[in-house]
Amino acid sequence: MKTVWITGASSGFGAASARWFAQRGWQVGAWARRLDRLESLRREILEANPKASVWIDAVDVRDAAAVQSAWDRRPFEAVDVLVNNAGLALGKESVEEGLLEDWDEMIDTNIKGLLYATRAIAPTMVARGSGHIINVGSLAGREAYPGGNVYSATKFAVDGLTEGMRLDLTPKGIKVSQIAPGMAKTAFSDVRFHGDLQKAEAVYRGMQPLSPEDVAEVIGYMASAPAHVNLADVLLMPAAQTSSTVVRRQE
Ligand SMILES: NC(=O)c1ccc[n+]([C@@H]2O[C@H](COP(=O)([O-])OP(=O)(O)OC[C@H]3O[C@@H](n4cnc5c(N)ncnc54)[C@H](OP(=O)(O)O)[C@@H]3O)[C@@H](O)[C@H]2O)c1
Repeated sequence: MKTVWITGASSGFGAASARWFAQRGWQVGAWARRLDRLESLRREILEANPKASVWIDAVDVRDAAAVQSAWDRRPFEAVDVLVNNAGLALGKESVEEGLLEDWDEMIDTNIKGLLYATRAIAPTMVARGSGHIINVGSLAGREAYPGGNVYSATKFAVDGLTEGMRLDLTPKGIKVSQIAPGMAKTAFSDVRFHGDLQKAEAVYRGMQPLSPEDVAEVIGYMASAPAHVNLADVLLMPAAQTSSTVVRRQE
């Protein structure tokens, strides 16, 4: 049985990916801060398939020691695929008005959290000489947009880290990939606008964004490719979107 480890599995892409893998017989390890969300996800998966194997743990990926001890208490010895998905955008202010605490949280989660999870988990892959790390980047990591400043920078960092990790880990038998989604409807915009649902809804006005299931399907496909194939870099866009700032909207 194969095992996948997913960070940020309590919502959005992470939760949809956990369902995708569990439905196909993978063992799933799921991390996020909100344990109640992870518990309902596990309940839901087990109701659909009582034989599914889902391990959940409350982890803040910004805390390197917490990440390491969560990894140390895992029930599965090895992991085949790590999906570095935990992340968020906070605020959309012009840079001179940005909130320092928002910047810190984005940098600590999207960059350092990805590194901490990788630092804890990759050594077990290296020891086995096999594994696959899939980083969740973003279209925002290819091109900036007004007010996207620090969020974009964190996803540019994910792009750079993916390349660097691939250079380091390919010789050790580990695949490293990135999926970079465009606009997708999850809790992402609710979180970004600090719960202002009107602002969050306006992001998707008149267009059909990606769903969490669309993204999970592609992550699952990347993880299931034959051993000699690496979908190294996948830019996944809603059909209505052509760039960070150009979207076809039908009113
Ligand atoms: N939606 C989009 O348009 C879009 C587009 C491109 C890329 N992305 C990226 O996709 C990834 C998933 O986002 P999403 O759209 O699925 O949003 P979401 O529904 O808000 O999910 C974000 C997940 O990240 C987790 N998370 C946030 N901070 C964390 C922390 N400190 N420690 C552990 N987990 C943490 C959240 O769990 P807890 O709050 O329970 O910790 C949640 O499970 C992010 O990296 C995001 O940047 C999103």
